[in-house]
Amino acid sequence: MVMDDAESVAYFHAGGGANPGMRAVYDLCARALDVMLPPGGRLLDLGIGSGRALSAVLRRRPDITAVGVDLAPNMLATARDLFAAEGLDGRVELVQADITALPDSIAGAPWDAISCMWTLHQLPDADVLAAALRQIAAVKRGSGAALWISDFARLRDPSACPAMLQCVDPDSPMGLRQDAIASEAAAFTREELSAALAVAGLGGLASGHATPLPYLQAYWAFGANGKPASAGQRPAQLHGQARREAALLRWGFTAKPF
Ligand SMILES: C[S@@+](CC[C@H](N)C(=O)[O-])C[C@H]1O[C@@H](n2cnc3c(N)ncnc32)[C@H](O)[C@@H]1O
Repeated sequence: MVMDDAESVAYFHAGGGANPGMRAVYDLCARALDVMLPPGGRLLDLGIGSGRALSAVLRRRPDITAVGVDLAPNMLATARDLFAAEGLDGRVELVQADITALPDSIAGAPWDAISCMWTLHQLPDADVLAAALRQIAAVKRGSGAALWISDFARLRDPSACPAMLQCVDPDSPMGLRQDAIASEAAAFTREELSAALAVAGLGGLASGHATPLPYLQAYWAFGANGKPASAGQRPAQLHGQARREAALLRWGFTAKPF
């Protein structure tokens, strides 16, 4: 459930910095949260991991601040080092807590947006998923925050994800690839996650998924004040293959908030 062994954390963190496919996913999430966050907004990131996803948001939006929650000490330590190295540490607070039972100081705070990126597949079963979504729905209700949930989606054919990675990412380290394959296999299907969101009171969210292979899914809603005014064009964040993969992922995604 909690991803904390040193080797997995190291593979995941290194992959998030170098792997074009992972960087493309972070770019998609950052673009989505960019259009949801008002100027000077406060973001609650649930399952911050080693910090790569949140770092992409913070670098895209220099005006926002964030609190990142995770249970895994090694992940939090890695995130702390990343934010310090990137000069983002003054804008992020890290909290060790369970996303299914947040402390009142977080659950009752005035958030502008909540994100949960690449985390739900780590929850061990449908009951824990339901608890996490109930918690997210309660924070959203209490704060009027926007919401962005993205994750793997389990595919019908278990051989599809390994075959895709062999095709698009043949040179990635075996540890990283094994982690991705296990994560996709552990993920909730789009039907399972949609149904669980509805039960948690989050049935009205917009959603989209990757194509041609629907291995990623995303759900979102703008905050109570609607879509914030656009802050205009951003400088390009990605280059080379990561930029091309990000463009392909965006193009193939069936719907997105930007
Ligand atoms: C695969 S990582 C994703 C990290 C990050 N959002 C990203 O996209 O790079 C998922 C994270 O969720 C954390 N996690 C899993 N279950 C959790 C729970 N119940 N409470 C808090 N964190 C949890 C894990 O420890 C792990 O760091």
